[in-house]
Amino acid sequence: MKRIGLLTSGGDAPGMNAAIRAVVRAATCHGLEVMGIERGYKGMIEGTARLLGPRDVSGIISRGGTILYTARCHRFMERAGREQAAANLKQWGIDGLVVIGGDGSYQGAEKLHNEFGIRCIGLPGTIDNDIGGTDYTIGFDTAINTAMEAIDRIRDTAHSHDRIFFVEVMGRRSGYVAMISGIAGGAEDILLPEAETTVEALIERLRDGQQLGKKSSIIIVAEGCQYGGAMVLAKRVSDQSEYKDNRVTVIGHLQRGGSPTAFDRVLASRMGVHAVEALLAGESGKMVGVSGQQLQLRPLSDAWEQRTRFDMELLRVAHVLSV
Ligand code: ADP
Ligand code: F6P
Repeated sequence: MKRIGLLTSGGDAPGMNAAIRAVVRAATCHGLEVMGIERGYKGMIEGTARLLGPRDVSGIISRGGTILYTARCHRFMERAGREQAAANLKQWGIDGLVVIGGDGSYQGAEKLHNEFGIRCIGLPGTIDNDIGGTDYTIGFDTAINTAMEAIDRIRDTAHSHDRIFFVEVMGRRSGYVAMISGIAGGAEDILLPEAETTVEALIERLRDGQQLGKKSSIIIVAEGCQYGGAMVLAKRVSDQSEYKDNRVTVIGHLQRGGSPTAFDRVLASRMGVHAVEALLAGESGKMVGVSGQQLQLRPLSDAWEQRTRFDMELLRVAHVLSV
């Protein structure tokens, strides 16, 4: 093995740059060249790639986003698109690939592995923490801290005005960010895609809190919850109760950017080194995960077949603490 390819794909996540740096430097240490493919599978099809040396990744460990850019690419879902991509990999002399992304990106990598025998290793890069085979994804820790800080700020003004705030956090299919940032931010309730509830139950919770002396409340709403986001939910609560003067804040893509936390930088660094060494050891069709303190190699399909589900006990904890 002489040259490996590296790309970021799907939604960006803080710590992707730290992972890029780790892959490039680990590869250099082991005498390998790295071709950085821009904009994920789109760049693989369109042929946009450049060699990356250790100095090209200087100073990026602290930067959010991805210097390789990222994209979602429909052409890669078709066999013809993947044939073009595989032909480019061959032309570039790439004999191993590191894909940093979510489970969709892994499904693409698995197809490259199965259809064209391209050696692929995945690194979990998504703020959602919704990938099986790993306790944590790169970017999750930064995103929950960003969301928590936003909730803290909202609480200041909610408290000053005796107001109810509905704070929407990211997570179309996964309530992980909502659950953890909600507990960390002391939320009065948390609405998740994984757990249905009723507007009536939420209103009851608000009334219970008021009876116990609460004058302000924060409800965390995952964007993928059954009501389709905080705006709709806030209106339902306003229409069905005495809580008319509520406010909505959508944190949105603020959660995707920013300098990664130490946790994400270290996780990305360890995983990047592990990915290169796995390729050198002849591994393919695998993802790097972390279980406890240990890194592990799992089949790429674990990402979607063994999807991480947080412990629903956490929701009970949030409710117990909201009295
Ligand atoms: P993520 O990797 O964050 O889950 P997506 O689901 O958007 O993000 O996937 C990123 C890209 O991976 C897609 O735009 C597509 O190019 C590729 N991809 C996703 N699913 C598949 C699939 N089933 N087959 C081939 N390629 C896929
Ligand atoms: O998968 C990460 C994520 O940020 C989700 O939480 C969110 O639903 C989605 O990506 C938004 O993606 P985009 O705005 O890039 O289409």
